[in-house]
Amino acid sequence: MKTHHIISALFLTLSAPLYAQSPTTRPESSGIPQLQVKARDAFISGLMKKMTLDEKIGQLNLVSVGPDNPKEKIMADIRAGKVGGVFNTVTKPDIRRMQDQVQFSRLKIPPFYAYDVVHGQRTVFPISLGLASSWDMNTVALSAHISAEEAAADGLNMTFSPMVDITRDPRWGRVSEGFGEDTFLTSRMAYVTVKAYQGDDASGPESVMANVKHYALYGAVEGGREYNTVDMSLSRMFNDYMPPYKAAIDAGADGVMVALNSVNGVPATSNAWLLKDVLRNQWNFKGLTVSDHGAIGGLVKHGVAENDRQAAAMALKAGVDMDMADDMYGKYLKGLLKDGLVSQQDIDRAVRDVLTAKWDMGLFADPYRHLGPASTDPVDTNAESRLHRNEAREVARTSLVLLKNDNHTLPLQKKGTLALIGPLADSQRDMMGSWSAAGVAKQSVTVLKGMQDALGDKATLLYVRGSNITNDKNIYDFLNSYDKAITNDPRTPQQMIDEAVKTADKADVVVAVVGESQGMSSEASSRTEIDIPQAQIDLLKALKATGKPLVLVLMNGRPLTLSWENDISNAMLETWYSGTEGGHAIADVLFGDYNPSGKLPMTFPRAVGQIPIYNSMLNTGRPFNPQKPDKYTSRYFDIPNGPLFPFGYGLSYTDFSVSNVSLSSTTLSKTGEIRASVTVKNTGKVAGATTVQLYIRDVTASISRPVKELKGFEKIDLQPGEEKRVTFTLREKDLRFFDNQIKWASEPGKFNVFIGLDSVNVKENSFQLK
Ligand code: NOJ
Repeated sequence: MKTHHIISALFLTLSAPLYAQSPTTRPESSGIPQLQVKARDAFISGLMKKMTLDEKIGQLNLVSVGPDNPKEKIMADIRAGKVGGVFNTVTKPDIRRMQDQVQFSRLKIPPFYAYDVVHGQRTVFPISLGLASSWDMNTVALSAHISAEEAAADGLNMTFSPMVDITRDPRWGRVSEGFGEDTFLTSRMAYVTVKAYQGDDASGPESVMANVKHYALYGAVEGGREYNTVDMSLSRMFNDYMPPYKAAIDAGADGVMVALNSVNGVPATSNAWLLKDVLRNQWNFKGLTVSDHGAIGGLVKHGVAENDRQAAAMALKAGVDMDMADDMYGKYLKGLLKDGLVSQQDIDRAVRDVLTAKWDMGLFADPYRHLGPASTDPVDTNAESRLHRNEAREVARTSLVLLKNDNHTLPLQKKGTLALIGPLADSQRDMMGSWSAAGVAKQSVTVLKGMQDALGDKATLLYVRGSNITNDKNIYDFLNSYDKAITNDPRTPQQMIDEAVKTADKADVVVAVVGESQGMSSEASSRTEIDIPQAQIDLLKALKATGKPLVLVLMNGRPLTLSWENDISNAMLETWYSGTEGGHAIADVLFGDYNPSGKLPMTFPRAVGQIPIYNSMLNTGRPFNPQKPDKYTSRYFDIPNGPLFPFGYGLSYTDFSVSNVSLSSTTLSKTGEIRASVTVKNTGKVAGATTVQLYIRDVTASISRPVKELKGFEKIDLQPGEEKRVTFTLREKDLRFFDNQIKWASEPGKFNVFIGLDSVNVKENSFQLK
């Protein structure tokens, strides 16, 4: 109840239009009144006067707890004033033990505590790509707010989130961590998430500071290969890839994590143009920048620094304030200063940013901010009572995308015999996805448990595993190389399939839960094929041969190639990794207790060879026309053109009709507005929600503009027979773009307007910008 109240209040402040590209200025510091800013700056200046060079350099050290850096060592370093912030320690008692050391340090400057709270802390929500599939900003705000609340309750001050890299190559494993391919949707997600994390005050009892990442363009790594090169035109960079970072900063994000990749030959970590000219000077960012893990040392491998020492100088001079986990600043800055290779101003600027962030986190007012007295520590950190299960279920339901539903196969009836089969059907770990923070696998609800709870004794549910995730030993070993991520059933594949077929034969319908294990779609898990592994395909073939209706429940962290699965199944539900309450949410949809409404935030290709394939593509000089296919057009000749499932696509258990687009005028002036409206009607038999999407095309401009560019969306609920008028307002500034000189302006001429319930099936109209 309380959380919902906060969210509605929060959402009201979020509904203002978002002009991610506009060169606006952000408040001096998130939510802090001017007087306090003055007091803060004066306090920090005073403190810095007292600090030795070693103490200053210590503030730039962001350390990770791990086998190479045990807690006892970090505690000694805190006492010696050598630690600015700590990450990867996540319980109140652990953090408290560290913070207790501060009193033994000379100046008593408290470290802050950070963690990758990407889609939940104790309660795990769907992965970010799933959250984006909801297109529901209330859902997004709710999950981010609870994440912050739980992180703060664990004593944390900062999250390394949101991840807002635009991702158009599903071979890259980290597409699971972002909000997909679209600039407008991702910018909205970024804005809402940051607001929900920080509220009006990053030091608040239910807030954590947001550290938006990975600046910049990490999602555009060539070929989708992890950590690879990024090279792109400036107009594409500023039109497509930069706005989400900017939106996060406009929302008040006080932290930015610098990307591991290079940008047009210059690693982000040594890229003064990115970190100073764009971030600080153009966008007016006043917060803290942190390197990514070991990225400063990585400058040597990038081939731009001769050695670690030079790398440290380059990163600091480029504008990286804190050094994450490789202690390059600690080792080299003192000598670099002595030799005149960095200046005192370079160091002081970075130190000031760290101290300012700490002040904004409330740590100078109270080093135990978010910790409170020891008597408030939870007796059991993983207690059930600390979870937000209802909200997790509510959010997860909105993230599920119905991809196919022939002859109303779904929803299933709660009667007869159902067979549940597949290596992901009862996997608690996989349900949580990657970066599941402090979530505990054994607290997550699998599809098996969800279906059992939904059915009770109304029907018979048979469950067998059917196959392992993969029979490929190399992949199995890779997935288990850092932790025990998957386990294999020791039986032979054929034994498991035989058992599955016998089970399917006894059932009225088969539900197969297949896809990727979570480790296949995370950091350092790029794939050349984005299909369901062969072991599971063999299982599906055998299940198909039984002739039973076949429902595929897909668990994966990226768009997959699903043409064959689409052909052989009767229904397909995309569930991503849907978190702590995933199994209940999925069962809600399978049995029709909740009508699915998710829409894809990333295009699903037919084949890997089509990648990159995304909605806002340019037309080319020889576009392919499906009505009049011709050889000399931009196409692949060996498969049908276009995606298997387009951006914005997702079905419902009901049907909707969309009227023609009516425009309030045929012209738009520079100071005016134009309203584009449609009437959407629920023509089916059950209540449902859908997302109405508005796209535009700038038909003729000085540079080619996308065939369809998302510019607005609205999620609506409709009862059977009910209709609603949905109106979008467009102004001149919504039509602006960056040209090749990075001038941000609109150009007069014809604009097409498209409105529909996905990016392909749309109604069209047009107007002139005068
Ligand atoms: C490396 C990842 O790239 C980044 O996203 C993450 O925040 C840091 N490690 C810290 O865990």
